Amino acid sequence: MSEQPRRPRKTASTGRPGKPGRPGKPYRRPQKDPVRILAFEALRAVDERDAYANLVLPPLLRKARESGDFDARDAALATELVYGTLRRQGTYDAVIAACVDRPLREVDPPVLDVLALGAHQLLGTRIPSHAAVSATVELARVVLGDGRAKFVNAVLRKIARDDLDGWLEKVAPPYDEDPEDHLAVVHSHPRWVVSALWDSLGGGRAGIEELLAADNERPEVTLVARPGRAMAEELLAEPAAAPGRWSPYAVRLAEGGEPGAVQAVRENRAGVQDEGSQLVALALAAAPLDGPDRRWLDGCAGPGGKAALLGALAAERGAFLLASEKQPHRAGLVARALDGNPGPYQVIAADGTRPPWRPGSFDRVLVDVPCTGLGALRRRPEARWRRRPEDLDGFAPLQRELLRGALEAVRVGGVVGYATCSPHLAETRAVVADVLKRYPDTDLIDARPLLPGVPDLGDGPDIQLWPHLHGTDAMYLTLIRRTA
Ligand SMILES: C[S@@+](CC[C@H](N)C(=O)[O-])C[C@H]1O[C@@H](n2cnc3c(N)ncnc32)[C@H](O)[C@@H]1O
Repeated sequence: MSEQPRRPRKTASTGRPGKPGRPGKPYRRPQKDPVRILAFEALRAVDERDAYANLVLPPLLRKARESGDFDARDAALATELVYGTLRRQGTYDAVIAACVDRPLREVDPPVLDVLALGAHQLLGTRIPSHAAVSATVELARVVLGDGRAKFVNAVLRKIARDDLDGWLEKVAPPYDEDPEDHLAVVHSHPRWVVSALWDSLGGGRAGIEELLAADNERPEVTLVARPGRAMAEELLAEPAAAPGRWSPYAVRLAEGGEPGAVQAVRENRAGVQDEGSQLVALALAAAPLDGPDRRWLDGCAGPGGKAALLGALAAERGAFLLASEKQPHRAGLVARALDGNPGPYQVIAADGTRPPWRPGSFDRVLVDVPCTGLGALRRRPEARWRRRPEDLDGFAPLQRELLRGALEAVRVGGVVGYATCSPHLAETRAVVADVLKRYPDTDLIDARPLLPGVPDLGDGPDIQLWPHLHGTDAMYLTLIRRTA
């Protein structure tokens, strides 16, 4: 076995017609369950229109709440059903494949979505089995029709005969025979992603298992108190807020915490930002520098999270920040993130590979390049199924060009930070090694001492953060100084 069974993407035809009901059995209207109908609609949008769950779900939830038949608990359940089903899709597809008598690609996508939703309730939640089956069959009656609801019923009853561990024993190949396939099925990641994460993480089974498990957890919401504009103490006064683990500016909100309800966030003095991203900005700002420290550049700034923190840190030092972003609409987001920054800054829409600025005109430069995002799988439940290994080839030339552009932008003695939210070695060390072949007049700065108190940053001089070790996205950073 090499890969989990894949779903076909877009099919409009219906499944098998159902047998006519037994004569004499009275017809009962299906019961409409708004939570499961909404979850199904969201899954269809993700599957059929390549939508992002985190963009599709909020408007659906808002509409449902406005219509009055949805409360906060319904919204939480719908969110859990959508995110859990998408994250665990690889595992559930393997279980479903063992319970149907044909390849999954021959099962209609809407039917598969209902089955996966049912499998998640049965294997991934505390919903009692009978309730999970009956609620999902009722959903199938509403959205698929009575005929296909019988098929759904039969499959879910088979799934309900065992729990998750029992199923994994049956459908995952033994670890000793094929470790990567085993982990792919057990932890619901594509096999190539398991390989890539393991290559970068190194070590034995325990570490990679912890990492893959962490990818399946919902990340906490973390706020950043932008220095000079808000204090972490102010954010800590929020209900159920806790200090960040590593960044002095970070505050974690307990589950259900609403960033939009925090006054400092509404006033742009604070923002939502993963602690890994905060650490990248902090390490770049702390890197030792010879000579002046007056002009900073963020060369890939959209949507502006790191730029806003860098802008605030630059302001404390009296430095100017130029935040540059190729996409004009994303440059607009950067402008919004920096609005009210206490120090001098400018936001421009510019291509970092053909920049409008003079070479050597900055003291500190960040390039947080476009990448596969394999370090942020916790946030985008569907992303792991969308990404393909070929995507790496698409990003590779741009990542190299943007790093070259950054090295040209910095003056001799200045520092460049190359960052990705992917730990894939092809996007991290391979890019840096390739580009630096043409820049012998550079030194790598050991970034680890710049983040005192943060353990397990790797063997240096670059740093790699991990969800299971740091509770952050798997951000990567290397710091490069131009020496001549
Ligand atoms: C990983 S994101 C940066 C995230 C950002 N640093 C933050 O913390 O919010 C990469 C950004 O680079 C931008 N980008 C892509 N190609 C670019 C180019 N040639 N020049 C400048 N920016 C580019 C993308 O539009 C995207 O907004």
